[in-house]
Amino acid sequence: MSDTDFFDADEKAFIDGFLEKGYAIVPLQERERLDAVRARMYERAMKQLGPSGAKRPSLDAFFDHTERFVPVAKLNDFRLGVIEGLNKDALLRPALFKMARRHIEWAIGSEIAMQRTVNLSIQLPKDKSSLLPLHSDVWSGNSPYELVLWTPLVDCFKTKSMYVLERPESETIFREFSKYKEFDAEKLYRQIKPKLVWLTVPYGHAVLFTHSLLHGNRVNEEKTTRWTFNVRLKGLLTPYGVKEMGESFLPITVRPATRIGFEAVTLKK
Ligand SMILES: [Fe+2]
Repeated sequence: MSDTDFFDADEKAFIDGFLEKGYAIVPLQERERLDAVRARMYERAMKQLGPSGAKRPSLDAFFDHTERFVPVAKLNDFRLGVIEGLNKDALLRPALFKMARRHIEWAIGSEIAMQRTVNLSIQLPKDKSSLLPLHSDVWSGNSPYELVLWTPLVDCFKTKSMYVLERPESETIFREFSKYKEFDAEKLYRQIKPKLVWLTVPYGHAVLFTHSLLHGNRVNEEKTTRWTFNVRLKGLLTPYGVKEMGESFLPITVRPATRIGFEAVTLKK
C-alpha cells in the first residue's frame, strides 16, 4: 500500500507493530506535564469534595484509594464535576497530545483532529457501577479512522486496566459475526476471554488503540483505584463517523498547504 522505505527504522517498527496488534503502549515525553495534570486534577478533586474537616490526603493516597474519600453512590457526580472543570482548562488537551505526539504522528499522520472534550474514567476497587462491556466503537457508528489515546494517572495492570482483543482475533470475530449474533456482550466476553490481552500501562505511559478492536473493562479487583483519561484522535482529512468535525472533533494541527488549499476551494464556490 505504501513504500516503507520512506519511514525511519524506529517508525517502521512501530507501524508494523501497530498494524499487527491494533494498539501500542507508548512512553510519554515531557513527563512533568503529566505530573502537572495530576496535580491540577488533585486540586480540582479536593475542591469538589469540599471542606470535610479531615486532613487532606496526600496526592498518592488520594489517587490510589479514592474509595476512602468518594462513596460509590456519589462517584459519577464527582467524576463529572472533576472532568467538567478540567475540560475548561485550556492546557489539558495540548498536554495529552504533546506527551504522546511522536507516536500519534507515527500512527495517524501530522494533521490531526482531536475530540473537543476529554473523558475521565474512575474505577474504584470492586465497584460494579462504572463498567464498560465488551464492544467495538465502530458498531455504534464511530469512524474506523479514529484512534483512542488512553492516558492513566496511576499504574494500570490486570483488572485495574482495560483489555483488548488484538487485531487478527478481533477481525476473526467480525468475519464470523453471524455465529455470535445471538450472543450478548457478556457471553461473547466469556467466549473470547482466553484470547484477551490485559494491558500493563505504568504511570508515564499511554495506550494508543484503534477502537475498532474489541475492548472493555471488568470490575477492578485490584486494591487501588484506576484513573484514566481517554480522548479520540484522527487524521484531519480522513472520513468522519457519528462524531463529526466541529461538533465532536476540532482541528489541532493544520498545515499551511491544507489551509491554503481549503481556502482556495472555498473561494471558488
Ligand atoms: Fe470503546
